[in-house]
Amino acid sequence: MDYKSLYQASIADPYNFWAEQASEFISWEQTWDRVYDYDFTKGEIHWYTKAKLNVCNNCVDRHAAVEPERQALLWQGNEPTDSKQYTYQELLDNVCKTANVLKELGVKKGDRVCLYMPMIPETIFTMLACARIGAVHSVVFAGFSPEALRARIIDCGSEIVVTADQGLRGEKIIPLKENVDTAIAELQQVKSVLVVKRTGAQVPFNHGRDHDYSTLIAKVNPSCDYAIMDAEDPLFILYTSGSTGKPKGVVHSSGGYITYASFSFHYVFNYQPQEIYWCTADAGWITGHTYLVYGPLAVGATILVYEGVPTYPDSSRLWDIVDQYKVNIFYTAPTLIRALMGHGDRYLKTTSRDSLRILGTVGEPINPAAWEWYYKQVGNERCPIVDTWWQTETGGILLSPIPNVTKLKPGSATTPLFGIEPVILDQDGKEITGEGEGYLAFKASWPGQMQSIFNDHKRFIEVYFSKFPGYYLSGDAAKRDADGYYWITGRTDDVLNVSGHRIGTAEVESALVKHQDVAEAAVVGCKDAVTGEAIYAFIQLMDDVEAIPNLKDELAALVRQEIGGFAVPKHMQFTAELPKTRSGKIMRRILRKIANGDTESLGDISTLGNQEVVSRLLQQQQDD
Ligand code: WTA
Repeated sequence: MDYKSLYQASIADPYNFWAEQASEFISWEQTWDRVYDYDFTKGEIHWYTKAKLNVCNNCVDRHAAVEPERQALLWQGNEPTDSKQYTYQELLDNVCKTANVLKELGVKKGDRVCLYMPMIPETIFTMLACARIGAVHSVVFAGFSPEALRARIIDCGSEIVVTADQGLRGEKIIPLKENVDTAIAELQQVKSVLVVKRTGAQVPFNHGRDHDYSTLIAKVNPSCDYAIMDAEDPLFILYTSGSTGKPKGVVHSSGGYITYASFSFHYVFNYQPQEIYWCTADAGWITGHTYLVYGPLAVGATILVYEGVPTYPDSSRLWDIVDQYKVNIFYTAPTLIRALMGHGDRYLKTTSRDSLRILGTVGEPINPAAWEWYYKQVGNERCPIVDTWWQTETGGILLSPIPNVTKLKPGSATTPLFGIEPVILDQDGKEITGEGEGYLAFKASWPGQMQSIFNDHKRFIEVYFSKFPGYYLSGDAAKRDADGYYWITGRTDDVLNVSGHRIGTAEVESALVKHQDVAEAAVVGCKDAVTGEAIYAFIQLMDDVEAIPNLKDELAALVRQEIGGFAVPKHMQFTAELPKTRSGKIMRRILRKIANGDTESLGDISTLGNQEVVSRLLQQQQDD
């Protein structure tokens, strides 16, 4: 059958379709009552109700039982000479021991475990160890500041943090343990910190609270039974940015999530036995959860994990690794492709990349120039590119070509996966048929759909299901072309996408206004050749305050402290006043145009309270 008929069949009978996928990809301890039971109008999402399984068993034990010597994890350290390898049996041993360490530290089923880790094997052991004992992990990307980490630890109520002494990224050393100490200073809630030695540097050690991973690992029992979990028990929480300042703790289930992770991994990457699969995402983001760890391991793949950055020792590093490990499937972000493209083709000359079979992208739209470079120069015109659209909330890929089946169009995430029903809605929430542009939404659930926002189910309903009842609203705008292909055109909310990282404008604004000289700030996105979008902040200073030269540095430091380096605005413009409507609302539409230099047509500014503000902003920009 071709894609179209298979797709039609999946949509015509989703109940049986998703039952078949769950049986095919997952080992269950007990089968379900109902495949699904959901109601978008109420924000109720239930998959495989009453079924029982263990996600770690699915990702590790069942493969180790059949083929213990199969390679599971190939780890490439920051330094080219530093590497490790683990078979499925070795992965199982390490996960079991880590699980026993967590238990010894008092972690029980349902407890939240916060991870603040570099890209090392222990990060994966810990995630899987949590899944094994039924604890819920909350991985916080190690680029977040102590302040941001603290907020996430408090929100999920975790009593334990797993970290490393330091992280290595190119020539940079990341003081992870020190950051954790700052984050949890005077926070009674955190009872223990488990520290993996990565560099072996001397780091402060709080006896009684801090524990050395290697010491505990050496002492624990090597075997650990997995816990039998309900399909609807949460597997993890992952924080992501939304329209308001407070990040959302996206909650994913065990049974539905792992079914969707393996199903989508299988169809999108077409993994064949013995192949080497490499996803460059950090474990701190959803791509690192679904397509670095859970999806590929659930199908028994061999994954490559790289600790460092693409430009260390130089910009050929990724391609050196591809050749060295004979990587077959490579999945990365457009921003990285653009950055490497900018460094020139000479970095490709020393490698053949002959092993590559499929290339993938995720996180933001890929511009045709970067697509062509990836296809022609990196893949030597042999490898289809799967441009995969999805979100932290969706748990897995919803729109993507099927390699060697779907005709590709550079810049389009093409068509929905089986069982997925996208719609484009107009302003009034009416479905647009055929060609058109509007709000990207989905009218049927899929097993990977998030269950809730941690401790805030009301917000879950408000954000995703209230504007257009009966649909899951993605927050993205999209265009559908005459062939039924989807093209993402941007966000419809106040979320920016910088280098594939989601950043809420409100989060950056609230960091900026913490500065004593700042009265108000308005943050918008502007186009950027490398990062896709860049952060542009319009900053209104307090009366009588001069924009002294180092104010920008101070503000940058403040954002770094509150969120992390990746959220520092690229552009900051000081102004005596922000353009507001007469009712006092900041006119972001106009600021967005000014930030993008798109000033020919500012549109209707008649509602603007003080029209001179805009001309002053424009004048100032020209003067700079
Ligand atoms: C954007 C990342 C265009 C989109 C997996 C989405 C994309 C947000 C694509 C989710 C793509 C992701 N083409 N845009 N292929 N993939 N996006 O939660 O705006 O970090 O809503 O999940 O990234 O970002 P998140």
